[in-house]
Amino acid sequence: MAFNLKGRNFLTLKDFTPKEIQYLLDLADELKRQKYAGIRGRNLEGKNVALIFEKPSTRTRCAFTVAAVDEGAHPEYLGKGDIQLGKKESVADTAKVLGRMFDGIEFRGFKHETVEALAEYSGVPVWNGLTDEFHPTQILADFLTIREHKGYLKGIKFAYVGDGRNNMANSLMIGAAKMGMDMRIVSPKELFPEAGLVEEAKKIAAENNAKITITDSVEEGVKGVDVIYTDVWVSMGEEDQFEERIKLLKPYQVNMDMLKLADEEALFLHCLPAFHDLETQVGREIYEKYGLKEMEVTEEVFSSKHSVVFDEAENRMHTIKAVMVATLGK
Ligand code: CP
Ligand code: NVA
Repeated sequence: MAFNLKGRNFLTLKDFTPKEIQYLLDLADELKRQKYAGIRGRNLEGKNVALIFEKPSTRTRCAFTVAAVDEGAHPEYLGKGDIQLGKKESVADTAKVLGRMFDGIEFRGFKHETVEALAEYSGVPVWNGLTDEFHPTQILADFLTIREHKGYLKGIKFAYVGDGRNNMANSLMIGAAKMGMDMRIVSPKELFPEAGLVEEAKKIAAENNAKITITDSVEEGVKGVDVIYTDVWVSMGEEDQFEERIKLLKPYQVNMDMLKLADEEALFLHCLPAFHDLETQVGREIYEKYGLKEMEVTEEVFSSKHSVVFDEAENRMHTIKAVMVATLGK
């Protein structure tokens, strides 16, 4: 079934009904099939989209860029230091200017209020490419990947293990509540999600036959799950907290012992980038300072048959394309 999402913003999944989310996943699936078949899209022909990035990005930036070009739009990357946003010009004024030139705006950055202000003042669809609080386009890719591998979402037993109060945990909790999943946030008490958001998620869950459990017990949270998900222990902008996070989260590392608690066909997902080896500069620094070769996930799990992280990364592009086509396309 098609839904009319034209002109809508995509700031958090709270603003979308389960059917609308389903529709975006179906559209992503369809656009993915067309791309594989070599059919070129024209849904965004003649459109200009601004891609604002206060924080670095590989997947999100590339996904928006490729998706825009695939559908005939022109993407304009506006990186940190390229524009005045919030420094020499208010977010509201910047939004008004961009809204007069561009047909849509993506924003990745720190404050969630910034993406809200862009939406309020620009007059064009605004897409959240990650804020400190939410990362909703990632959830679409995660759910598409689970659907591809498991065939369904409703009733999926899903454990998010790690930093329970970051943008990924927040967004997955809302998404799972919408889609009728059995969601467990597994983290130390110090990193439990904010109580107000948990309450909100539980309300949404009650409407959709979903379940939300917040626990610090790996045994309770992971037992028999269909999906184990983790994210970095230290998110962008929190780099001064490595020491404390390592202490808190070491028992929550996704390793083979943890995976054995899950269903034997369980999937492993991670939004990436991941610290699972010493192949990065930061990874080597962590090793020198704290003696850790792996952090939130071991290399063994990351490269195991359970891991679908690169399908998930690819699906960022197809799902972001669906969001742009649905809100801005012909
Ligand atoms: N998963 C994700 O958002 O990746 P990037 O930070 O590379 O965009
Ligand atoms: N929680 C991570 C997600 C990266 C995609 C961060 O904000 O850095």
